[in-house]
Amino acid sequence: MSHSKKYETITMPLTKGVKMLINHIFPNANIEYKPKDKILIYKFKGKIIGFVHYGIRNGKGAIIGVGVLEGHRHKGHARNMLINAIEDIKASGVDRVLIKVNPLNKAALALYKSMQFMPVRKVGKSLLMRRFYEEN
Ligand SMILES: CC(C)(COP(=O)(O)OP(=O)(O)OC[C@H]1O[C@@H](n2cnc3c(N)ncnc32)[C@H](O)[C@@H]1OP(=O)(O)O)[C@@H](O)C(=O)NCCC(=O)NCCS
Repeated sequence: MSHSKKYETITMPLTKGVKMLINHIFPNANIEYKPKDKILIYKFKGKIIGFVHYGIRNGKGAIIGVGVLEGHRHKGHARNMLINAIEDIKASGVDRVLIKVNPLNKAALALYKSMQFMPVRKVGKSLLMRRFYEEN
């Protein structure tokens, strides 16, 4: 696949460095990892500072998590990583990509809305958002 050099795509099992980053950003999360999931990481000066965890769930594309270390936010890293992840998911032949967000998470909500994700429904305390791929 072709994304710019600063990104790397990691497949399962996760390396210690990636696990540490995810645990640092989401300390108490109960994250589901599937064998075919992928993690796109962003490295800065050799250190992993951002990730997008994505895969296929029930035949649909799913962004499972996205995070950027404090101190590196507001630079477009999450957006750029998501663009790459969404492009990679598209290659799986699915027609849509889903994402769950805590509606109180203003940064994430604004980011997803700006990337054409539309609210679908509440799932527990989360808001499910969806973006369709255009037919081509
Ligand atoms: C949400 C998060 C991933 C955004 O990462 P980021 O690299 O700072 O985001 P970007 O720089 O790519 O921002 C893209 C857009 O998101 C929105 N955004 C980002 N941070 C924002 C904030 N604090 N308030 C409002 N909007 C924000 C803006 O629309 C922004 O576009 P703009 O820069 O043109 O205004 C980051 O804040 C984070 O890691 N938070 C903790 C983990 C988390 O909550 N993840 C999401 C739930 S899975």
